[in-house]
Amino acid sequence: MSEDRHPFLQGLSKHRGAPPTIIVIFGASGDLTARKLIPALYNLGLDNLLPGDFHLIGYGRKPIPDEEFQADAEKDVNEFSRRPLNPDIWPQLKANIHYHAGGYDDPKAFAELREKCLDIEKKAGRDLQFVFYISTPPSVFKPILENLGSSGLAAHGKGTPLASKMIIEKPFGRDLATAQELNQIIANQFDEHQVFRIDHYLGKETVQDLMVLRFANTIFEPIWNRRYVDCVQITVAEDLGVGTRGGYYDTSGATRDMLQNHTMQLLALTAMEAPVSLGAEDIRDEKVKLLKSIQPLRLDPKDGDAVRAQYAEGLIGGEKVPGYLQEKDIPATSSTETFAALRMSINNWRWQGVPFYLRSGKRLARRVSEIAIQFKQPPGGLFTDPSRFDMAANTLVIQIQPDEGTTFLLNSKIPGLETRTQPVKMHFRYATTFGSNTPEAYERLILDAMVGDSTLFIRGDETETSWKLYTPLLEYWEECGRKGLDSYACGSWGPLSADRLLWESNHEWRRAGP
Ligand code: NDP
Ligand code: BG6
Repeated sequence: MSEDRHPFLQGLSKHRGAPPTIIVIFGASGDLTARKLIPALYNLGLDNLLPGDFHLIGYGRKPIPDEEFQADAEKDVNEFSRRPLNPDIWPQLKANIHYHAGGYDDPKAFAELREKCLDIEKKAGRDLQFVFYISTPPSVFKPILENLGSSGLAAHGKGTPLASKMIIEKPFGRDLATAQELNQIIANQFDEHQVFRIDHYLGKETVQDLMVLRFANTIFEPIWNRRYVDCVQITVAEDLGVGTRGGYYDTSGATRDMLQNHTMQLLALTAMEAPVSLGAEDIRDEKVKLLKSIQPLRLDPKDGDAVRAQYAEGLIGGEKVPGYLQEKDIPATSSTETFAALRMSINNWRWQGVPFYLRSGKRLARRVSEIAIQFKQPPGGLFTDPSRFDMAANTLVIQIQPDEGTTFLLNSKIPGLETRTQPVKMHFRYATTFGSNTPEAYERLILDAMVGDSTLFIRGDETETSWKLYTPLLEYWEECGRKGLDSYACGSWGPLSADRLLWESNHEWRRAGP
């Protein structure tokens, strides 16, 4: 065990040991593999959380010798791992990294992949679990799934505790129909308990803490409802642009890339009822119930629940950056939104009448993800003189990233000989209490998939319920093309129309961040 093991991990391997595993990553030459998956596996290894028999096979179309893929993996660890490469541990891991070249729609390549896996299993002298991580663009999800089925790889170990598992990246479909089709293809090859639809926001510490905050503290439940809450604001903002991912992003946009998945998970965990247990099905049942209670979005261009916009040239960190239409691989006439803001209404006893505002975008003023629960103003006219009483609504802010923690905004008397007030903040910071360098989302999620725990993954009906809500909006925007598409300057907080969306209900966006 490594010496710098985080306290979070103490004792974990004893009861969460993953079985001997071969993990195959499809799309192994890609961005996600380099930046997240390889570093996550390395850090699991460093924490002694990988099984003794652990093998990684990278799969991609371009032939790459094993040694070159191993060298690339080493570079990825050096560049992207949260902890430096440990020369005592790395060689052992590196020796079990392999590469397999083949097309995603090539049955022969999958038959050879199976032979390779079986050969490793034979050499190991024991049964191994096969885990398939689909980390390619969504356009090839379907052939990969079909080939996993027809090659027999999906059926490996079926009926035993070492049954194959499949982790699939987002976006899971582009609308309800494609998500249903994908679920059907998956169901033809795998049982639901073998399937891990990933949403890496669920692997973030602060997102997992939402359930603890809500259900392990008695003080919140009595006020977590329409009697006390005025509105909820969920912001997932990035300062980065589309970078090298223009080709993918232009087919996706902020709504498919962030809102339909990450932001909806934040909403579901914030608003759902307490589950019967911490078991995967009980939690996911509650999330689905909540998603089903959300009212259809109103699409009226004047009085609708959604606005969209594209970034225009502006300044980020004092540097001039190009607008979306000038980015690489973006067509000059693109109507893809890089920002969207929504107002959602939940039609149940707890939340009737409380607006949930969601916004997400690229090239915004700063990188920040947070959930702000804004409480109602106190009754009575005691503190109304604005020259003396600077007041803000009580707000509980769950800061997902960066600077993870929770802040409570309340009003306080300013010390002095007369009564004057100002809003103040109570902070809890993860880094201060628990130290920094906590595990990355992908570490937790890959480990969970290896041990077969699907609590932090999306169930098939959950993603379909979310798509049901978003599909009419996406179809409507597609029909409109660029009509009604706003723009915002890079480095701003989005278009004016997003502010108007809240003004209509006498609210305004808070300045996100600690
Ligand atoms: P990439 O665009 O880097 O693609 C991954 C690999 O897939 C490529 O290296 C390439 O491998 C293969 N590939 C790329 N385009 C095609 C194509 N048109 N047809 C067939 N194969 C192709 O993707 P990312 O690594 O960025 O993302 C992978 C998945 O993870 C996506 O579903 C994405 O939405 C999701 N994701 C990505 C995040 C990120 O930060 N990158 C974050 C969260 C989710 P080769 O040529 O070797 O076959
Ligand atoms: C991914 C999106 O799912 O999440 C990216 O495809 C986005 O566009 C990323 O940048 C944000 O993740 P994080 O963890 O940096 O907030």
